[in-house]
Amino acid sequence: MNKKSLIQLRLNELTQPLLCNPDETLLQVVERYGYRMPRSCQNGVCQICKYTLLQGEALQRYPEQHLKASIGQSNEGAGILGLACTSVPVRDCWVNIKGLKCPGEQEVKRLNCDIAQVEKLNNDVYRVSLVLPATASQSVSYYAGQYLEIVMPDGQQAAFSIGSAPEAGRNLELHVRHASEGKLSTAILTHLQHSKNVEVELPKGDCFLQAANIAKDQTIILAAASTGFSQVKSMMEHLLASGVKNPIHIYWGARVAADLYLPELPKQWAAENDNVTYHPVVSEPGDSCGWTGRVDLLPDAIKHDFATLENVEVYASGSPPMVYALLDACEEKGLKKVQMHSDVFAYAPRPEK
Ligand code: FES
Repeated sequence: MNKKSLIQLRLNELTQPLLCNPDETLLQVVERYGYRMPRSCQNGVCQICKYTLLQGEALQRYPEQHLKASIGQSNEGAGILGLACTSVPVRDCWVNIKGLKCPGEQEVKRLNCDIAQVEKLNNDVYRVSLVLPATASQSVSYYAGQYLEIVMPDGQQAAFSIGSAPEAGRNLELHVRHASEGKLSTAILTHLQHSKNVEVELPKGDCFLQAANIAKDQTIILAAASTGFSQVKSMMEHLLASGVKNPIHIYWGARVAADLYLPELPKQWAAENDNVTYHPVVSEPGDSCGWTGRVDLLPDAIKHDFATLENVEVYASGSPPMVYALLDACEEKGLKKVQMHSDVFAYAPRPEK
């Protein structure tokens, strides 16, 4: 059968139709193309796979029904309801599916995690170890560098980078800074310290890294300020677990030495891997800090260390002023904005110069 004679299936507002094989159910076509939609029983009973037929014709096997429609998507609330797992398109169809996920699109879930441990790392940063639910229906996947949101019992939410790599499975790590003047910060820490469970929403964020997509000759810079290190830690553990051999430079900047709250870990990565270099920088050490290492601002340090940044990907985790200062510095060395990745770009516009 040639492609022209196959029935076409148009989904939601997408313009490129899917081609249906003979006798394929709508659900089978959708999943064959890598899309996902709500579904469970796959035999017409649970009704979770409901869709709206906007145009075209389909035969629903169970409950048996001949579905026909010829309206447009803008006709809100109209259309014929059908079940995707038992409907076979018999003419070109246009359907609307609530909860449709495109190929590669992640499903955000709200889950109740066990709190395994809350451990103080320095003056105000705590390592929080969470365990995701064991049931398959509550499994969730995330990429290295993504974040989650803690959902408090009163509904307030706060975002934290996931400090562990996807390879850690159900175990999640967060680095939570306690801002003593912040009511929500105190409430979150108190909740984490005194509860057995916490509700979280994940995965979130477009600043992530996948080892499989890294070009062979590319240098990677992971730049973190303060607890931005948790995002770097997730990426680094993923890169190491994937055996990536590209040159990797980790920059961790803080105001004083004590703010580098896991000082031995990046040193260990560098000691055990020839391709990893660690550059800690402290900006305001003062007399009592005990810092004998490099004194610099993170953007200046990176600008100083590289003759060119033309073939480098930078992942930056910190405040908007820090990230945009770093972008300015890197652009002076030939980096294009598309080579820098940060969650900041999603919520803070670049300041006018
Ligand atoms: S998946 Fe249950 S009715 Fe379709």
